[in-house]
Amino acid sequence: MCGIVGYIGTFRDPKEVLLTGLKHLEYRGYDSAGVAWLENGKTHIEKCKGKVAQLENQIKNVSIKSTIALGHTRWATHGKPSTINAHPHQVGNITVVHNGIIENYIELKKELRAQGYTFQSETDTEVIACLIKKESEKSKTLEESVQKALRKLQGSYAIVVMNELEPEKLVAAKKASPLVIGIGKKEYFLASDIPALLSFTKQVAYLDDYETAILTPHRVEFQNMKGEHISKKITTITWSAQTIEKAGFEHFMLKEIYEQPQAIIHTLSGNLSENHDKVLLPLEEAFFNNVQTIYLIACGTAWHASLIGKYLLEKFANIRAEIDLASEFRYRNPILKENDLLIVTSQSGETADSLAALQLAKERGIKTLAICNAKESSIARAADQIIYTEAGPEIGVASTKAFTTQILIFNLLSLYLAQKNKNVSKEILELTKIPSYMEQVLSQAEKIKNIASKYYQKLAALYMGRDILYPIALEGALKLKEIAYIQAHGYPAGEMKHGPIALVDQELPVIALLQNDSIFEKMMSNVEEVKAREGIVIAISQKPIKIADDNIILPLAQWHINPFLYSIPIQLFAYYMARFKGTDVDQPRNLAKSVTVE
Ligand code: G6P
Repeated sequence: MCGIVGYIGTFRDPKEVLLTGLKHLEYRGYDSAGVAWLENGKTHIEKCKGKVAQLENQIKNVSIKSTIALGHTRWATHGKPSTINAHPHQVGNITVVHNGIIENYIELKKELRAQGYTFQSETDTEVIACLIKKESEKSKTLEESVQKALRKLQGSYAIVVMNELEPEKLVAAKKASPLVIGIGKKEYFLASDIPALLSFTKQVAYLDDYETAILTPHRVEFQNMKGEHISKKITTITWSAQTIEKAGFEHFMLKEIYEQPQAIIHTLSGNLSENHDKVLLPLEEAFFNNVQTIYLIACGTAWHASLIGKYLLEKFANIRAEIDLASEFRYRNPILKENDLLIVTSQSGETADSLAALQLAKERGIKTLAICNAKESSIARAADQIIYTEAGPEIGVASTKAFTTQILIFNLLSLYLAQKNKNVSKEILELTKIPSYMEQVLSQAEKIKNIASKYYQKLAALYMGRDILYPIALEGALKLKEIAYIQAHGYPAGEMKHGPIALVDQELPVIALLQNDSIFEKMMSNVEEVKAREGIVIAISQKPIKIADDNIILPLAQWHINPFLYSIPIQLFAYYMARFKGTDVDQPRNLAKSVTVE
């Protein structure tokens, strides 16, 4: 969702910092972009509806002679995408960029209007600028005005503010939306996420909720909301700037699909014993003692990985696992008992609903564990224990390598718990074969592309699977919706007769996921039923399915390894369907990579 970039310093061209940073935040999803800077004590703003490239074009002849600048990509929440609603927003001497949602902005706007303030945009952000402007008239410093104004806000925010009257200072603050400070030598950066900073610095400090950062070209100071000094840890980022480039691939999504074998190797590394027969996890010894029920909570693709986690935990670890969407869990007053555990899974570690579900569990006093990809993210820091997926930065909005590494963590966790009571060394050893299996599946990309070329004009598709492949059916349908904008449903094949079979005709491709197991024949009956109604069957299986229209044959692997193999064809199929349709693969319309608001 919205992306923030800020720069203060004398070493670089602020225009370059802002545009580079904003381009690296494009993956978050947005519909307008803007920049602001101070030059000779005056605020200059350029903004537009559309992409960062349009903004770049708009300012191509503008030279920014400044040491202090802000940039923003907006994902519309309050007010349609338009130039006027785009950030930055200026009220008098104060200029603000904001990520988040101010829930009480209507009341605040009413109060401010009654006091004579007027508004240009439909946004909630302009209210923040207005409140800070008002406070600045009676405060000594910008940070004081910001801290006072923020006390009146309900909702979520990451903001960066500049003031014409204090032209050597940026003030940043956050609550429930991410903000990172990049630390250079006598220059400082601000961003919603690491990729925006990587070309400039690897030294960062993560702002926590209710903290303020005061940046000048010479120093950064951190304060709490009362204006008291606090110290912050500086972290060094280990990702290289190359990891956020496309490296010759046409899209980030395709690059990330191909990076999966490597991501699995990195996630396995350090989590297995030398002989690959024991799982070692960075968990406190007694953490799982007496755990009765595990609640698996997540959103989107991470929820599908969690659903696979349920199958794995129940089968290997013999622990009851309940699965829920974070947005449902947080509002339905769940029954949580003393010995329950909540596992929240999130690539970004910033998803608003997942974070809120985690906080609810903490308030209720149950143990929490997070599975995250983004280091030091809000969810990673809030959970009692954390296991990281080592997928590296994932830029494509449609999650791929984060998904398969999440499934790997659920495998590791279930086998880690199982090994206390039984010998699962064979199952553990199998995990080391995943990368080579994945390579074999990736080598079929051309074939999958050809299949997609036959069906990309179809208006709908159905995915069906059973058991541990049912979540893959859900994920396949989600991928197709996300990037190819095709109506798609994922179904447990056993439910076909309870509704979806009514959709089947000669226009409907049905992607059937069949594994060689005890319920193979049940799946075959479902395939027969689709064919009997003239549906098109694309079979993804471990042996040829003669009656299918198209076959994608995968290597024979053990049950717990199959989700890794079946993930790749559904990802590639969606990718090529989108390519043939010509839709925006990496930044699909209306979607955001990091859903930091409800
Ligand atoms: C968005 C993304 C999805 C992702 C979901 C959850 O919808 O587009 O790819 O699965 O958020 O995100 P998280 O960062 O919590 O895994």
